[in-house]
Order: sequence, then C-alpha cells, then structure tokens
Amino acid sequence: MRESHLAERMDDPHCDLGELNRTYAQFGTVNGLVAGWRRVYRQDLRPHLSASRPNTLLDIGCGGGDVPRALARWAARDGFTLRITAIDADARAIAFAQAQPPVSGLHFRRAMSGDLVREGQRFDLVTSNHLLHHLTGSELRALLGDCEALSAGLVVHSDLQRSPLAYLGFRVGVAPLFRGSFIGEDGLRSIRRSFTTAELRKLAPPGWTVRTLVPFRNLLIYGASDRD
Ligand SMILES: C[S@@+](CC[C@H](N)C(=O)[O-])C[C@H]1O[C@@H](n2cnc3c(N)ncnc32)[C@H](O)[C@@H]1O
Repeated sequence: MRESHLAERMDDPHCDLGELNRTYAQFGTVNGLVAGWRRVYRQDLRPHLSASRPNTLLDIGCGGGDVPRALARWAARDGFTLRITAIDADARAIAFAQAQPPVSGLHFRRAMSGDLVREGQRFDLVTSNHLLHHLTGSELRALLGDCEALSAGLVVHSDLQRSPLAYLGFRVGVAPLFRGSFIGEDGLRSIRRSFTTAELRKLAPPGWTVRTLVPFRNLLIYGASDRD
C-alpha cells in the first residue's frame, strides 16, 4: 500500500540547507539516470511544438530546475522558441534554481499551480517530474483540475512507479552513488509514497491516461491526440 504518511527530509523547513542544496544539485544526475525525459521530449512534447510561433511550457514543482533546463536546451537545439515558466512551492528550491547560470527563455518563480490558474494563465505544455508522489489523493485531484485549466495543449506528469523491484534497484544501484544529500533516503521514501500504475489509473479523471515508461515510471497524460 502507498505510504503517503512518510515525510521526505527535503520537505522539512528546518533541514540542513547545505544538504538540501546538494540534493537539488544532484537531482540532475538522478533524473538523467532514471526519469527518461529525453524520450518524453522526443515522443510526446516535441510533436506539439510549433516552428512558426513561440511555444510556452509550465513545469510544476521544478525543484532545482534541471528538467526545465534540459527541455529548454533540447528545444533550442531543435530550432523551437520555447518560453518556460518553472514554479515550486518551496522558496529554497527557487533560490537554488535562480542561482544557477541563466538560460534564455527560462523563468523561475515561487508559486503553486492554483496561483497561475487565478491569474488566468495558459500554456501549450504543462509538465512535472517527481511531483505526484508528494501529494495526497485530494491534492492530486486539485492539481489535475489546475492543469486542465492551465493547459492549452498537453500535460505530462512523470513520476516513480511503486514496486518492490524499483525499491531494491534504487537502494542497490542508485542511492549509494549519492552522498551528502537527501537523495538516498528521500528516494527510497518517494518510491514507498508513489503510486502503482493501477492506483494511478483508478485515480485518473476522465480525459487523463496513464502510460508506463521503463524503468519503473508512470506518465499521467492529458490532452494527447490520436497522433500521439
Ligand atoms: C522531489 S522534488 C522534484 C523536483 C524536480 N521536479 C526534479 O525532479 O528534480 C518535488 C518538488 O515539488 C515541490 N512541490 C510539492 N508540492 C507542490 C505544489 N503543490 N506546487 C508546487 N510545487 C510543489 C516541492 O517543493 C519539491 O521541490
């Protein structure tokens, strides 16, 4: 069963700032190893980008900002204009992200998805990475409602998929590589907090679909057309 009561060290407002900043810094490597965003960019996001006008993307719960940075780099390399707004509820994450070298078209901001809904904002693409497992069932429903309001095209939430093999694989193959941060401990707790594919399918409102990605990932998608 999902252990959503487990707290992650990085969510503690009083946690060690040095370790937290190392956690944000190491997210880039972890995500490169396990998250598969290059594949998601090529298969799901890039087909929605227009070459003839600027495109917009919102990344929710951006942490240290490595995923929106990668998306900005890939889109620029492919010749697209992509304006990215990356938001996080935690001021410490935004401070870390803003302290990194600036990327053209990428803007970080402390906000929740509901703040942008109230402002009437809309984006061609909405993404998140490792956000869903942070949420309770009712928070997840609220987030998905916000995403429907914010989306003018496609929403892709990518998250861990809970399974004993994912837990073992992370404990043996990934956690020992990261020292001086919360990656190991929080990663294992995140897997225990995350949804199985069946749980996510059950929670997905009409219009949303769940796809799996190797290794041990769930993609919760809204707005995909037949060509996807
Ligand atoms: C595990 S981190 C993932 C960070 C980043 N997306 C990555 O994969 O490296 C989850 C982030 O989501 C943020 N978060 C959690 N709930 C949020 C919400 N409702 N709105 C915005 N950010 C949220 C947390 O502050 C945290 O920085």
